Amino acid sequence: LFSGIPYSEFVEVEPGIARCADPTVPGGYCYRIEGRVLRELGEPGADDQPSGLQKYPDLVDDKSILQPFVEIIYSPEEHDRWRRMFADIERTAPGRTVSDVMKGFDWIRRLGGMKKIPSLQAMSDDMETISGFKLVPALGLVSNDSFFRMLMEGEFPITLSLRREEEYAYTPFPDIFHDLVGHAPMFLNKDFCEFVRKIGELGLSFAGQPKPQSMVSKIYWYTIEFGLKGERYRSLGERIAYRDLQVYGAGIASSVAETQISVEAEITTGDRKINRLPFDLERLLLSHYDYDNPQELYFVIDSYHQLAELFAMDLGAFIQNILAQVKRGEKTMIPQGVLRPGEEALVIPPNPPVRA
Ligand SMILES: [Fe+2]
Repeated sequence: LFSGIPYSEFVEVEPGIARCADPTVPGGYCYRIEGRVLRELGEPGADDQPSGLQKYPDLVDDKSILQPFVEIIYSPEEHDRWRRMFADIERTAPGRTVSDVMKGFDWIRRLGGMKKIPSLQAMSDDMETISGFKLVPALGLVSNDSFFRMLMEGEFPITLSLRREEEYAYTPFPDIFHDLVGHAPMFLNKDFCEFVRKIGELGLSFAGQPKPQSMVSKIYWYTIEFGLKGERYRSLGERIAYRDLQVYGAGIASSVAETQISVEAEITTGDRKINRLPFDLERLLLSHYDYDNPQELYFVIDSYHQLAELFAMDLGAFIQNILAQVKRGEKTMIPQGVLRPGEEALVIPPNPPVRA
């Protein structure tokens, strides 16, 4: 069984590539057949190979969502991999990850996540009691419109497969570890849930308008996935600085290496730029984002209130305005890793605070 669906209900659409045969069975996403394992398509770093999602865009659809709820039978190896990954994160996170995520780790532990992949149903039920948010199993990515609709309705799709051993340290694709360890903890915070719901509502308001909708995805990316938080102060030179820089974004919080790098690495680390900038909505919307490579740009908030405040204005109109300015050539999009003249990335460790 994979995800509760018998193998016999998958057909090979080309050698080695399977998709669910029965249209009444959810699971429209493609899987690669590897022995007895149906593995989601997409090889991180494979040379010139389009990822599964790029190769089969028509298969990213709402059939990914598994309703009613299914419980997955994971192999002992998968439980063991999860246990080691969770232990690694637990060792790395203290001091580097925000207290909300740390509390979420306690919660995962209480639900048995120290030893094995916890029950998704139990986590979802518990979360719903705490914050009203729910977890919904999904076989792959859902369409943007469905994704935003789910967020608006307080639902988060959870990828069911666990990364392979060779992807232990990093996978650009979501997996159950990223989704449960990275995302789920923040969904215990009601204020954060409210922000996520509003992102969903805004994204859905741009249904059928890819450009403005991608701007909403970008806000999601630089906050919910790759956000950093710190206490803001000004150094003697009036340069903005932060102390206690910590991770709240799921893309970082679910990775040992990224947790360390994002809050501790020098601005230039090997070939990689680690540009940390104070959160600035316009700068964020003008920044490119990169799905496939390690991030070179992070935005630092000083409180979740800063995120909630985004919705104090007409954020949709703000986005449209930025897009219009870009179209007229008045504003330029900025690649990750590039700073504009006069911009300075935040250095780590930060300058000592000015004492009154
Ligand atoms: Fe994610």
